[in-house]
Amino acid sequence: MSTIDLEQFSKYSKPGPRYTSYPTALEFSTDFSYDSYIKYLQNGKEKLSLYVHLPFCRSACYFCGCNVVFTSKEEKLSRYIEYLKKEIDLLASHLDTSREVIQFHFGGGTPTFYSAYELDTIMEYLKSKFTNWSDDAEISVEIDPRFFNEEQMKVFAKHGFNRISFGVQDFDEKVQKEIHRIQPYDITKNAVDLARKYGIDSINIDLIYGLPYQSFESFKSTLQLAFSLDPDRLAVFNYAHVPWMKKTMRKFDETTIPTPDVKLQIFQYTIDFFEQNGYKMVGMDHFAKPEDELFTAIKKGELHRNFQGYTTKGGANLIGIGLTSIGEGARYYAQNTKDMKSYEESIDNGRLPFERGVELSDDDYIRKSVIMELMANFSIDIARVETQHGIKFDEYFADALQELQEFCDASLVQITPTKLTVSPTGTLLIRNIAMPFDAYMHQYSGNKKSFSKTV
Ligand SMILES: C[S@@+](CC[C@H](N)C(=O)[O-])C[C@H]1O[C@@H](n2cnc3c(N)ncnc32)[C@H](O)[C@@H]1O
Ligand code: SF4
Repeated sequence: MSTIDLEQFSKYSKPGPRYTSYPTALEFSTDFSYDSYIKYLQNGKEKLSLYVHLPFCRSACYFCGCNVVFTSKEEKLSRYIEYLKKEIDLLASHLDTSREVIQFHFGGGTPTFYSAYELDTIMEYLKSKFTNWSDDAEISVEIDPRFFNEEQMKVFAKHGFNRISFGVQDFDEKVQKEIHRIQPYDITKNAVDLARKYGIDSINIDLIYGLPYQSFESFKSTLQLAFSLDPDRLAVFNYAHVPWMKKTMRKFDETTIPTPDVKLQIFQYTIDFFEQNGYKMVGMDHFAKPEDELFTAIKKGELHRNFQGYTTKGGANLIGIGLTSIGEGARYYAQNTKDMKSYEESIDNGRLPFERGVELSDDDYIRKSVIMELMANFSIDIARVETQHGIKFDEYFADALQELQEFCDASLVQITPTKLTVSPTGTLLIRNIAMPFDAYMHQYSGNKKSFSKTV
């Protein structure tokens, strides 16, 4: 990748969505009714992707933007399992649970805050209701290496887990102290070794750049240490700083957070580092070895983006189970309540804990396909979009194309009658390049407290 003009790039630093969904979660509302959601569940025929949210963590990592409940009370943990089981029963009464399950993910919080026995209980229960698991289903869990033991790994192996994602964020001691997450290298290494011992051959490591006290030099060491673990994939996230939404982020002295130009320098180095060491970039913030199935999917134009990142399993109906979890169908997003009391009350009343969501209009549907293609493949197959949706691309997206002109002028985007292509340097600004296609964006343009910064 050519060296970027940092000054030119810093001007693009503005609030923008990460596009794990379109419309984004800001558009989720109670206008999408419970009855409509149930109809989607009843009528769905697609294969299933199941997501189970286990929200508990022992202590707060100050940077964390996830939906988390802090506790150390075993009573709360086991009570939640009882409610999960009831939620699964309710789901089974509304949808055909013999539909094939092609993907499963345990997310958090910290799923391994639960004991091996408890994790096994949840999996057994789920499998007793959802009975048709594909032989090559992708079964994954995100693990905090500080809470992970062999008994838990045995349970994952027993249930056919084949992907594990480990949270690291940064190996530097000073950064770890500041973010309130002390995690010596050996803890991570032992966790990775344990997963490999049980045959997990897709191991991902999460890092974050843009954290307090990170410098170009310190992050270089973090990359080297991450590389030494030989992960199959890496996610290197741009730190989303949203202190108006997450109280713990207010603990940071903002003057210690790297500036946009340092962040860009770090990320450009990250791309070069991994490319020189046998990895390729996938989508916005992921890297993988060239033999990874993600690249085969890119070649076929079949890479998809969802709430867990990038996947080859597109087109499945995602069913969210547990507090705050999000489900997705071709024409809707549905989110469970974030409040534990309402979650329990709903289930006690025999209703799914669904709270809000959005039904996609035809326009949302078209824009979703364009934005997701851009986020996954860094290009848009204009000819395909026209055929699939029966539109004239340059007419339908006249406003967007006009807004994109500045990126074309800077050689960050190239547009021909059949294809829109983002240059390698332009990929660093992929959120900015997707934003002109977002019909809701103008509502937020003056509002600094909507999304995290793109750079
Ligand atoms: C639910 S957490 C990971 C699971 C596990 N609890 C752990 O911490 O290892 C998912 C990932 O989201 C990323 N993440 C969390 N907060 C973030 C933020 N504010 N900005 C960017 N990435 C963030 C982190 O890399 C984290 O590993
Ligand atoms: S980063 Fe992981 S362990 Fe830390 S608070 Fe967030 S979910 Fe919990």
